Amino acid sequence: MEKVHILDHPLLQHKLSILRDERTGSKEFREVVSEIATLMCYEATRDLPLEEVEIKTPITTAKFKTLAGKKLAIVPVLRAGLGMVDGILELLPAAKVGHIGLYRDPETLEPVEYYCKMPNDIAERDIIILDPMLATGGSASAAIQFIKNYDVKHIKLMNIIAAPEGIERVHKDHPDVEIYVAAVDEKLNEHGYIVPGLGDAGDRIFGTK
Ligand code: URA
Repeated sequence: MEKVHILDHPLLQHKLSILRDERTGSKEFREVVSEIATLMCYEATRDLPLEEVEIKTPITTAKFKTLAGKKLAIVPVLRAGLGMVDGILELLPAAKVGHIGLYRDPETLEPVEYYCKMPNDIAERDIIILDPMLATGGSASAAIQFIKNYDVKHIKLMNIIAAPEGIERVHKDHPDVEIYVAAVDEKLNEHGYIVPGLGDAGDRIFGTK
């Protein structure tokens, strides 16, 4: 499990409890999803390369670090992943945004891509895939594979809540992918919802039901 990062900072735990509460309305839910995405982004970018530059402060000239300019892209999985985009762009304003939409074929039960728009230079970028809920791991695994098909070398997956089943599936299919989560919940129920979870993240973000 060394590829799974459980980000249990007190601020994240507090904000996640707000999301879990069924009384939290869509406006607050959206705001808190975005804030959580920003906090998670801070941790998920801990390995960004730095370079030394010479800077003249008002006192003297010395060498300091700045980001080495690694190219990044974020890819929200439609539709709930959209809720995490703005929070990430707060910290990574130069990141490009790709989109991927998947549905489950009712006969084969396999995820099928129905929408995909990636930045032209995606193969040169490190990718963070965004989806608030990692349930069975079927769509996450498929999204990772679609992005790998573009010859992308380095992919991270960011979920707010994961079920153990989802982590296991992604880890088995894509052992190279690092997973960042704010919580690992108990299980999936018979309808595929994470328990205790927070319900349907897409419905709660967009106020649909
Ligand atoms: N997707 C959701 O939005 N919620 C779950 O609990 C599982 C998948």
